[in-house]
Amino acid sequence: MQHLVDSDDLSMEQIERIFEDASSFKKRLPPPLLKERLLITLFFENSTRTRSSFEVAAKRLGAEVVHLDPSKSSTKKGETLEDTFSNLCAMGPDGVIIRHSHNDTPSLLADMQLTPVINAGAGNYAHPTQALLDLFTIREFFGTRLEGLRVAIVGDIVNSRVAASDIRLFDRFGIKLSLVAPKPFMPVTDLPRYDTLEEVVDEVDVIMSLRAQLERHKRPIFDNYEEYAKRYCITQDLLGDRSVVLMHPGPVMRNIDISDDILDDPRSLVLEQVSNGVFVRMAVLKLLLLDS
Ligand code: CP
Repeated sequence: MQHLVDSDDLSMEQIERIFEDASSFKKRLPPPLLKERLLITLFFENSTRTRSSFEVAAKRLGAEVVHLDPSKSSTKKGETLEDTFSNLCAMGPDGVIIRHSHNDTPSLLADMQLTPVINAGAGNYAHPTQALLDLFTIREFFGTRLEGLRVAIVGDIVNSRVAASDIRLFDRFGIKLSLVAPKPFMPVTDLPRYDTLEEVVDEVDVIMSLRAQLERHKRPIFDNYEEYAKRYCITQDLLGDRSVVLMHPGPVMRNIDISDDILDDPRSLVLEQVSNGVFVRMAVLKLLLLDS
């Protein structure tokens, strides 16, 4: 039984297969490869992109999807997460897609070996399908030779599961990473660290902007995000006519992470990431449910 807790669970060959399948699905939708398969989505944290993208991906492959809304589930009556999961598994799904605030929830459920577990975002630890779709989007733009490509990750890096998964995955492909953040948002790291965007903007091919993860801050870190934006918002003034491309996993805090005009700029791949997410998740579901 194969799970996807983080992209480290995948061999390089499996990642290549995901990218090949995603590329092929983007050109032409496949037949219903997962007909009569059933997936359950269980999101203990809010989501727009990831949940919808998984559900669209599953349905495009002919699978059925059942969503359990934790706010209306018996976890509210005191049932443990493990018991909730075991009971869902007793209904015979072909996989459970879970988002949770705790870093180790997907691995804990995967270790129960009841059904394939797909991590749709756990704490600040991992968001593997986001990292896969980010890398797929970069490969589409720059080609498959990624060794030496330069990516700056900017924003609330320490609290971001996207940053954590991107760093681990991009490193396997030889991408050179730099981190740009104020001290409270900077993780302990061996990667090059910068305080301002101006220090890196001439040195990178991609800027990956991140939102401040306010829901993970135990107390407010900045009183005023307009002041933060003066240093970390991606604007036309910052980019000028440079050929750097801009990415963001969403949700974007407009004019704090990225200015309105840059979101509409052809250098922004933000909506392309969302489109690619469906094809990458289709390829992930095929790999885990059909090929493994
Ligand atoms: N990128 C991402 O995880 O977005 P959602 O929180 O909307 O799923």
